[in-house]
Amino acid sequence: MNQPLKQHLIDPEICIRCYTCEMTCPIGAIQHDDNNVVVDPDICDSCMDCIPVCPTGSIDEWRVVETPYGLDDQYGWEELPEQQEIGAASTGGDAEALDPAIAALLEDAHKGAGGKARAPASAAKPTINMYTLGKPAKANVQGNFRLTAADSETDIRHIILTFQGQTFPVLEGQTIGIIPPGTDADGNAQLPRLYSVSSPRDGERENFGNVSLSVKREDRGVASNYICDLKPGDEVMVTGPFGSTFLLPEDPQARLLMVCTGTGSAPMRAFTMRRERTVGNKSGGMTMFFGARSPDSLPYFGPLNKLPASLLRTHMVFSRIPGAPKEYVQDRMMVEQEAIADLLSDPKTHIYICGLRGMEEGVEKTLTNIAESIGTPWAALRDSMRDEGRYHVETY
Ligand code: A2P
Repeated sequence: MNQPLKQHLIDPEICIRCYTCEMTCPIGAIQHDDNNVVVDPDICDSCMDCIPVCPTGSIDEWRVVETPYGLDDQYGWEELPEQQEIGAASTGGDAEALDPAIAALLEDAHKGAGGKARAPASAAKPTINMYTLGKPAKANVQGNFRLTAADSETDIRHIILTFQGQTFPVLEGQTIGIIPPGTDADGNAQLPRLYSVSSPRDGERENFGNVSLSVKREDRGVASNYICDLKPGDEVMVTGPFGSTFLLPEDPQARLLMVCTGTGSAPMRAFTMRRERTVGNKSGGMTMFFGARSPDSLPYFGPLNKLPASLLRTHMVFSRIPGAPKEYVQDRMMVEQEAIADLLSDPKTHIYICGLRGMEEGVEKTLTNIAESIGTPWAALRDSMRDEGRYHVETY
């Protein structure tokens, strides 16, 4: 029997294929094909040079093995294999004066709440407007990874930005502004476009302070095409952070009901990662209804789907699967009405709705039906939840 050894691997579900590790490896042990980035076990000497440069942390994976996984195995993976039992060997290895244009945009995005939005009582205090159009932060692109299938009609990118030495304190649920280069049709400098961050406050990679965004390429969209075409190393001008109400309660017992479509999943991903990194299963739990056209247009990372239901219960809903009826988030919420009624009757529940403006009406109608089924008039409940900082809408 071979002596067990610790093999260095890369998690294909988290890796954004920026190839920084490959470029950093001093001995050429890392290589890639069209599918994956892999580590050659015959070359890697565990020097660790590649570990700190990875923007996502996907590089820091180890398995104790008797026979190392070969390159062909690793190229074929869509996820990492579980750690196998190895004889008696241990497993797991030891291994505020806001720009009026921005203020108007934010107010418009939040108007679906039906009144003045408030932050959750236990939310952390956000920093806002630290970097402005006149004095933007300079970020560099660490990665640009297509989240949707290559042949999907939807092109959604996971963009990771690093602020190098600058402080950019952003909380989950906040937005940042990206300033496209050049001028508009009238010859004026481009204004920033707002995007919700999809990473938690301590960084896309824990403790690295880098920030991720989910950006959908829009037909003739000046900013979205600029962002979706960014290359690693490109410099980007950033304003913000913005937003002081669509925030996560710090109270670990708060129960979250999250409803989103498409890139509206960005803040929900940030909330989920924050809770996963802090309270984990000991939280009040989260329930998410997530609408997309089809599974290949789902802007979400696999690992979050694998979280235990005690932390996150996910309902994926698809509208354009050939041969299947169109389903919207509000339809599935109706199917799950008992669970939602239970949430609506709990004063610890916070509701977050983010994505297409068009879904507001349908979601409101469903919430009205469910609330009324338990004898509660929805409009009154919604207004009191909003005033208590427990009802948040961000639509566009
Ligand atoms: P549809 O197939 O009808 O466009 P997008 O990919 O455009 O960002 O949309 C994300 C998801 O939101 C899609 O499944 C889309 O369905 C769905 N959607 C569109 N309109 C509504 C609506 N009024 N209510 C709920 N979901 C909607």
